[in-house]
Amino acid sequence: MLPHLLLLQLVGYAAAASIQPRAKSSSCACGYRDSNGHVWRESIVSNFAGSNALGVVQQNWAVQTWGQQREYQYIQYSADNVYNYQNALGVRTKAWKGNGTSVSTGEIQTNRADILYGTFRMSAKIPTTPGVCFGFFTYYSDSQETDIEFLTNDTNSKHTVHYTNQPRTTSASSQEVVVSNDLTAFNVHRLDWLPTQTMFYLNNKQMRTISLDVPNTPSRMLANVWSDGDPEWSMGPPKADAIATIQYINLYFNSTSYNETAFNSACKQSGKPAVCQV
Ligand SMILES: *[C@@H]1O[C@H](CO)[C@@H](O)[C@H](O)[C@H]1NC(C)=O
Ligand SMILES: *[C@@H]1O[C@H](CO)[C@@H](O)[C@H](O)[C@H]1NC(C)=O
Ligand SMILES: *[C@@H]1O[C@H](CO)[C@@H](O)[C@H](O)[C@H]1NC(C)=O
Ligand SMILES: *[C@@H]1O[C@H](CO)[C@@H](O)[C@H](O)[C@H]1NC(C)=O
Repeated sequence: MLPHLLLLQLVGYAAAASIQPRAKSSSCACGYRDSNGHVWRESIVSNFAGSNALGVVQQNWAVQTWGQQREYQYIQYSADNVYNYQNALGVRTKAWKGNGTSVSTGEIQTNRADILYGTFRMSAKIPTTPGVCFGFFTYYSDSQETDIEFLTNDTNSKHTVHYTNQPRTTSASSQEVVVSNDLTAFNVHRLDWLPTQTMFYLNNKQMRTISLDVPNTPSRMLANVWSDGDPEWSMGPPKADAIATIQYINLYFNSTSYNETAFNSACKQSGKPAVCQV
């Protein structure tokens, strides 16, 4: 369902392989414990509040600029669709200019491609303009991916969220959930990726667990707003700008670059501070 080029992804993966895990802040050198008691060794905390959202993006994320011919339209990710917006981060699909023109879309992805399991949280408002998909997801390939997605032309789009493990070999790997919260206001969307299941939360209330098609490959995290005119999914393209407003994205995770031994020794060297609760 998601417009990615496997080739670009593999190139990106190779390029990122040389990126070292950033230094752990000594105060959380013994990791992060989530509400289920799971401990995670590393974090990427991106607080976009204020006037420097784009500067915060640039610390750990790459703004995407790739394009792809899709069945209905050509989509083109463009840097100007990721920008400082209303004291937060705006990610946008621009108003579409019509048949024959590409759809101008926005996406960020972590530089790190070695994330393997974790708890991932995003505070965001979904776009109000119909005809886009707003996604927050783990991604290695179209068959190693877990998604939280919002389709702004769903019948009840202000209250509808889609949770999916790809490749979605069975319909149960994808769950459409109608919630009471107004998703065009700020809410915290959370995904916990574990070896045997993915768990999905809204404002820390567990909404669904999916135990089928769980990805098991080191991945990136992405957020995007896109549309390819597919009447079965994104619909659109949108007639006006469709903007997601993101206040923060907090990722707590394990990776293949920072192992248990190195983590335990860093924790000990820091004087074994208490595990940070997240
Ligand atoms: C869209 O444009 C193509 C050529 O660019 C044309 O063949 C097609 O009929 C157009 N579709 C509509 C709905 O206008
Ligand atoms: C929204 O969906 C309706 C049908 O359900 C369709 O007629 C309309 O074109 C769609 N609008 C957009 C912007 O996708
Ligand atoms: C863990 O990481 C350290 C430091 O990078 C490395 O020296 C060691 O071989 C790794 N251990 C295992 C079991 O992979
Ligand atoms: C993550 O790392 C912690 C600390 O090393 C470890 O206890 C835990 O089992 C790991 N979780 C997963 C899912 O690998």
